[in-house]
Amino acid sequence: MPKLKHLLGIRDLSAETIHMLYELADRFYEVLQQPTRKAPALTGSTVALLFFESSTRTKLSFELAAKRLGADVLNFSAAGSSLAKGETLLDTALNILAMGVDAFVIRHQGVGTAHFLAQRLPVPVINAGDGTHEHPTQALLDTYTLRRYFGYLQGLTLTIIGDLFHSRVALSHLHLAPKVGLHLRLCAPPSLVPPTWYNLGFPIYHNVDSAIRGADALLVLRMQKERQKQPPIASWEEYARHYQVRPEHLSPHQVLLHPGPINWGVELHPALIQAPNSRILDQVTHGVAIRMAVLYALLRG
Ligand code: CP
Repeated sequence: MPKLKHLLGIRDLSAETIHMLYELADRFYEVLQQPTRKAPALTGSTVALLFFESSTRTKLSFELAAKRLGADVLNFSAAGSSLAKGETLLDTALNILAMGVDAFVIRHQGVGTAHFLAQRLPVPVINAGDGTHEHPTQALLDTYTLRRYFGYLQGLTLTIIGDLFHSRVALSHLHLAPKVGLHLRLCAPPSLVPPTWYNLGFPIYHNVDSAIRGADALLVLRMQKERQKQPPIASWEEYARHYQVRPEHLSPHQVLLHPGPINWGVELHPALIQAPNSRILDQVTHGVAIRMAVLYALLRG
């Protein structure tokens, strides 16, 4: 298997690499169940976190993953940095590199920003979300959660519902599903389906009941109001009435996932907070193990 140099998108990963990352995550998940929760395989390494968009789960779990592996972590904050004086992103990264950094994790609103840095830096770059393009570690941890729950992925049906148009998570899943044998269904109002997606071979639904019926799992996406100029259908109330996932949609055997953050009352009914088939917080737990696997594979793999 060729050595993984960067993690920029699921599109670049082979099925073999994805399974290797799941297996590494299994080992780190076991480490995280031990009292010390440490596997100091990256002692002496330093990981820089460059987050230009807000984040709770991704940023903190990358930080925790690096620390659980014994690495040092540099947290760059755009606010208060010399970007305000006109310094470029590349100069910023090169200066951080000069301090002795072994890997960068970047989230940026610009599509392709992680690729831009990866072409210019001599160390691994991990894409933690680039605009509406890809969010590879989220798709890995979502599918890892299903793999842990069901014991396999091959042949499972996953329905993704919500703002497909602006979702980097959905795009990463489009690349991931065929590589691990998942059957993907997509559901959104027509205004939130990128037109080219109708030609990709995935079934697209505009009705929540039909999209969910018979699926093994459901991944509900956040309405990205900050990226939308107007409601996807006549009003937000209309959207919630027709596309919100409610308790009556789910059978006891269907697993509920959401990458977070959740807009309760918009894409998910508040009664689902306590749903027994929700694995939403498991996704967050598994995010640490998956990010440990990614850091380990890039720095020591
Ligand atoms: N799922 C996800 O990317 O969450 P954050 O924006 O909190 O990192």
